[in-house]
Amino acid sequence: MWDVDLPAFDPATAPAEPLALFTAWFAEAVAAGQVEPHTMSLATTDEEGLPDVRTVMLHGADASGWSFATHADSRKGRQLAARPHAALGFYWPAQGRQVRLRGPVTAAPSAESQSDLHARSTGALAAALTGRQSQVLGSLEELARRSEAAWERAQREPDAPVPTWTLYHLRPQAVEFFQGDARRRHIRLNYRRTEDGWATELLWP
Ligand SMILES: Cc1cc2nc3c(=O)[nH]c(=O)nc-3n(C[C@H](O)[C@H](O)[C@H](O)COP(=O)(O)O)c2cc1C
Repeated sequence: MWDVDLPAFDPATAPAEPLALFTAWFAEAVAAGQVEPHTMSLATTDEEGLPDVRTVMLHGADASGWSFATHADSRKGRQLAARPHAALGFYWPAQGRQVRLRGPVTAAPSAESQSDLHARSTGALAAALTGRQSQVLGSLEELARRSEAAWERAQREPDAPVPTWTLYHLRPQAVEFFQGDARRRHIRLNYRRTEDGWATELLWP
């Protein structure tokens, strides 16, 4: 499965809460040359309770949770409005590592969402200004026209508001760290939120 030297992971020395371990593993993924370690799968459920999944960028992980941004009127945005729960999945093959999170999701206030967007690149603003995410597109020419206009506006007006653009925070109830092992003795350490902190347990691989 992995033709790389996998790091050792001793769950007995893991921190008491998952954010510290995630932060350490993220830094180690960057140091190991993992391509795009900040991309993650975001799973939601539709109005019938059926699963849906796509890739999004991690905008940060801190006391407010694991954050990502998208349009509130996109498919995922509508799903989150109806069922504000999601799961996130990271896969870092450079070290045979996976991190999974599940929990409720809240939308940040508009000012926080807009300042997160305006701190990003012109391309990110242009993409957000293009809008209509997840709607049916009539033709690629239509996209080219709208995208061109969005790029011009993003360059001219770096603080242009995008009312649908929303920063979301996932507050995990559970976070699982998976360390792959060449002999398939993979280590799974699961953190579960309790009333006053976190409980941990090992899981069979
Ligand atoms: C590497 C990568 C990163 C992406 N990051 C984002 C993102 O941060 N926000 C976003 O809205 N879409 C992002 N997308 C696009 C989504 O995967 C998806 O196509 C889009 O958000 C529409 O999803 P929906 O129809 O489920 O709402 C990214 C796609 C890829 C491949």
